[in-house]
Amino acid sequence: MDLFEYQARDLFEKHGVPVLAGIVATTPEEAKAAAEKIGGVTVVKAQVKVGGRGKAGGVKVAKTPEEAYEYAQQILGMDIKGHTVHRVMIAQGADIAEEYYFSVLLDRANRSYLAMCSVEGGMEIEQLAVERPEALARVDVNPAEGITEAKAREIVEQAGFDAETAAKVVPVLVKLGEVYANEDATLVEVNPLVKTGDGEILALDGKVSLDDNAEFRHPEHAELADRTTADPLEEKAKENDLNYVKLDGEVGIIGNGAGLVMSTLDVVAYAGEKHGDVKPANFLDIGGGASAEVMAAGLDVILGDPQVKSVFVNVFGGITACDAVANGIVKALEILGDSATKPIVVRLDGNNVDEGRAILREANHPLITTADTMDAGADKAAELAHSAK
Ligand SMILES: Nc1ncnc2c1ncn2[C@@H]1O[C@H](COP(=O)(O)OP(=O)(O)OP(=O)(O)O)[C@@H](O)[C@H]1O
Ligand SMILES: [Mg+2]
Repeated sequence: MDLFEYQARDLFEKHGVPVLAGIVATTPEEAKAAAEKIGGVTVVKAQVKVGGRGKAGGVKVAKTPEEAYEYAQQILGMDIKGHTVHRVMIAQGADIAEEYYFSVLLDRANRSYLAMCSVEGGMEIEQLAVERPEALARVDVNPAEGITEAKAREIVEQAGFDAETAAKVVPVLVKLGEVYANEDATLVEVNPLVKTGDGEILALDGKVSLDDNAEFRHPEHAELADRTTADPLEEKAKENDLNYVKLDGEVGIIGNGAGLVMSTLDVVAYAGEKHGDVKPANFLDIGGGASAEVMAAGLDVILGDPQVKSVFVNVFGGITACDAVANGIVKALEILGDSATKPIVVRLDGNNVDEGRAILREANHPLITTADTMDAGADKAAELAHSAK
């Protein structure tokens, strides 16, 4: 899970990383009130999970609360690289003398952590890394030890800080290492880390990614999940314990077992080449026990995707036999009633296949077409999706 800057700021504060005041606002009025509360010069910052906000006009210095109101009005609703701005953070303005760069991340290839640091921070770090890689220190961090004081000293030394600044930056890097380790992050990035006119070190921007696999250790992270931009269908699938991944195409896919669903994606993509290049719209694995309720929940999720033009249900009856699955599909369509409007191709095979097919035949549902093989089913579903496009 990637965090917004304001959430990263809060985590930094919790772990004693020096940050400035920051208040989230969703309206220009709130932005003005926040700027009044903070006082002095403030910075209105778009809260989107994408880099390059400054260059896109999403970071603006406001000298007065009225200016904060104006800038918030401009920035809220703005589109930054496909991300709509729903919130801004009103940050206390800093008197910046120098901008540095620091990050620590999970280095999977080396089974290690990697810290990167530069005395030339600011907005163009990617360019710096390409054009003058020597200006970006890269230091391996032992995951068992993390960023110790000695490690932090090694990092600032390689980055080329002067002795006086280095002494002030070291404890901040140790704290950022604590954020990384204690919050189970896979990335902590600060760009810029600044030195103020008074010689104080501050984290002015923060990017944090948390490791979802460590979720169980952090019940408090649940509230960091972003409800405004999460895909509502993915949320619905999650609530029903379904493994659902949204893709870009037009053929909705439901199968049981990840392996079968994966190969169904391939077969549908292949069949789609003959039918106007339609593609799978999703990955949905309903798992072993495909009860009517599970099937209904699955169909509900898939049919709720406006991009879906047809659905291919590809089930191999094992522990849950084909007749149970067929009953599940028929009952699911009863449950969904008029909300089900798209053609559904069903291919059943395996345990009790004849009984299953008989149930579908008897139900004679206008939306259901049956297929005897996976290839035939994929072809039919692709054809139906194409003709509905
Ligand atoms: N609180 C602040 N006070 C003064 N200047 C700031 C403040 N926050 C940011 N800035 C200035 O604005 C620049 C851009 O801000 P920031 O790093 O947060 O956004 P960005 O780098 O454009 O966004 P991203 O990190 O998403 O690419 C900073 O490099 C800094 O010069
Ligand atoms: Mg930045």
